[in-house]
Amino acid sequence: MHDGSKPVTDAPTPPPEPFVSPWEAPDELGALFDNNRVWAQRMRRSDARFFDRLVSQQSPRYLWIGCSDSRVPANEIVGLAPGEVFVHRNVANQVLAADLNCQAVIAYAIENLHVRHIMVVGHYGCGGVRAALAGPTDGLVGHWLQQVELFRHVHARRLNAIADPEEMADRMCELNVIEQVSQLSRLPSVITAWDRGQPLTLHGLIYGLHDGLLRNLGTSLDRRPETLNWRKAALRALWARPPANR
Ligand code: CO
Repeated sequence: MHDGSKPVTDAPTPPPEPFVSPWEAPDELGALFDNNRVWAQRMRRSDARFFDRLVSQQSPRYLWIGCSDSRVPANEIVGLAPGEVFVHRNVANQVLAADLNCQAVIAYAIENLHVRHIMVVGHYGCGGVRAALAGPTDGLVGHWLQQVELFRHVHARRLNAIADPEEMADRMCELNVIEQVSQLSRLPSVITAWDRGQPLTLHGLIYGLHDGLLRNLGTSLDRRPETLNWRKAALRALWARPPANR
């Protein structure tokens, strides 16, 4: 009972709720933290100085611009360890001039990390590309896919001539990669690097979910191109061969 000798505000505060450290895994993430500990131990066992070296620097030779799809993990597919590939991923592996995120990643990779290769990596069965093929989609994702939808209209004549919808979708995934490499080749960061003689090669690759294999679409570029001619030649070569997924 309060005896009146102390103001009420001095009453002992109740004990705080048990503190949950942000470093402790909530139940839903428990398995991830377990896996992480095992992975860190394994890396240390195979190379005692592995993490020490990573802390002091990263010097990747590659920038991977891929789809956010959970089935296309950059490092794993090409067998590269942490520190060996700089990664940007978004829905449908797009290079948009107005996407500050993508542009900053590209600029940092070229100017600070001096990557030698930038790979745009599409994949067959891409949900983003399929949605763009199907037509306008509502909401933010539909808004994000506008550029891919536009490419669908640019290539409508040849795409519409394909009877098999699966083959049409495969083609659209390939076309999207070439169009994105074309966009990449026009970016100021890339052109400036080429103009100052920095070695930098752009590539268009596509990954098969069904067999785990990467294919080169033969769109490599290592100097400032005459963009429209390059794009035309890359598209002609693409249509001249069957889809790589077939
Ligand atoms: Co995708």
